[in-house]
Amino acid sequence: MTKQIQVKNGKITAVQAKDVTHSGGRGEPFHDWFPYLEGYSSQFVKQIIDAKFENPKNLLEPFCGVGTTPIALAQLGISCGYTEVNPFLVELVSLKTICLRMKPSGRIKAAETIQTLKQLIRNDSNTAKSDTLLKTSYSGVFGVVEYFRENSFKQILRLKTLERKLECDLSKRFMRIAVSTSLLEASLLRRAGDVRFKTEKELLKPIPDILELVTEKLSLIQSDLNLNGLPNEQEIVFLGANAKQLHTDAMPSFDGVITSPPYLNGTNYIRNMKLELWYLGFLNSKVDLQKFRQAVVTSAINDVSRASGLVVLDEARDVVEAISQDCYDKRIPKMVAGYFEHMKIVAEGIWGQVRSGSPVCIDIGDSIYGGVHVPTHSVLAAVFESVGFKLEDETVLRKRHSNRGAELSQRLLVFRK
Ligand SMILES: C[S@@+](CC[C@H](N)C(=O)[O-])C[C@H]1O[C@@H](n2cnc3c(N)ncnc32)[C@H](O)[C@@H]1O
Repeated sequence: MTKQIQVKNGKITAVQAKDVTHSGGRGEPFHDWFPYLEGYSSQFVKQIIDAKFENPKNLLEPFCGVGTTPIALAQLGISCGYTEVNPFLVELVSLKTICLRMKPSGRIKAAETIQTLKQLIRNDSNTAKSDTLLKTSYSGVFGVVEYFRENSFKQILRLKTLERKLECDLSKRFMRIAVSTSLLEASLLRRAGDVRFKTEKELLKPIPDILELVTEKLSLIQSDLNLNGLPNEQEIVFLGANAKQLHTDAMPSFDGVITSPPYLNGTNYIRNMKLELWYLGFLNSKVDLQKFRQAVVTSAINDVSRASGLVVLDEARDVVEAISQDCYDKRIPKMVAGYFEHMKIVAEGIWGQVRSGSPVCIDIGDSIYGGVHVPTHSVLAAVFESVGFKLEDETVLRKRHSNRGAELSQRLLVFRK
């Protein structure tokens, strides 16, 4: 039996480790459309609601990812407003929201739409013309680097032509998500923490056919539409792309927050999804990557720009100084300083958005650079307290390890306004 979150004297003391990772939700409706290693499971969200909230109506999720929080909340009858900087993920969450809110008759129609799409792919994908715009933008973004074998690349360009010809908005959305979420598996890349080229040994395994992957993904979406328990009337509202732009002087309308901000561990949320962003038309040239770099919460080496690290918060000073003295890359202290500077802006935004007494629940992990431990949870707690929040619980959710084997952790911080 799954061990639930344990609560003692109003404080969370333990959690089922599987639930705090993306794999904990495998097999749940909507969960497998795009495997997101950085996510947690819907069970985790539900357990936090039971443990820390009293009859909430509307929550805020500033770092929405693939939408685990809003989808889990909707199933509990709770609305959610979210921000997410990656437009591919926004499009994914938006399609999940549409499906979640469909009435039974709408779901039957949507399943038929998907059936027609599958037929279209089967009949027309080998004869359709290649999409020249997509081909040009590939060169604009990636130059001469080859991420696909020639045949897969041609198929992708043909799928884009089919997508552009679709007149029905819903068909287009299904097609865009089914293709974009299949690209990585059909490429010469693999996700291992960050996305990287496959090794020669890994390339000995056959690369799946993109048309089969897309058809399988459409079938998965179709079967999720057939599940009982839908639809749900709760609101899932996109508030804007950037969690750093939540209004600080807003009229508080949220009953709390459940979120997982970027970990300060170098994962580059945008670069790891460059194929998906390119296919969907969000990356047309190298400049587009820079725009995202300015918008994200700095958490990876490639996010560091000239402006990063100019402000060092008091709460982060010791760790930034320690790392400056002992680091293999000058950008690391800038990245650490920039991270906490950005997270303070987000904390101020959250303060403006949540009602007094609301719980703010944050899943976070620490990191280590060149032997210097960065206790992200402690510094983040101090930053949130500097904004006015009170730290109520700190629970170790599971142990993690750095690339070199140093012990790290994943924690849940619960603050209260
Ligand atoms: C740890 S992931 C969240 C995963 C999410 N809990 C889930 O289960 O899918 C952090 C997310 O924050 C997003 N992000 C980074 N900077 C952001 C910003 N300035 N505003 C909004 N979202 C941002 C990233 O794109 C990433 O999807």
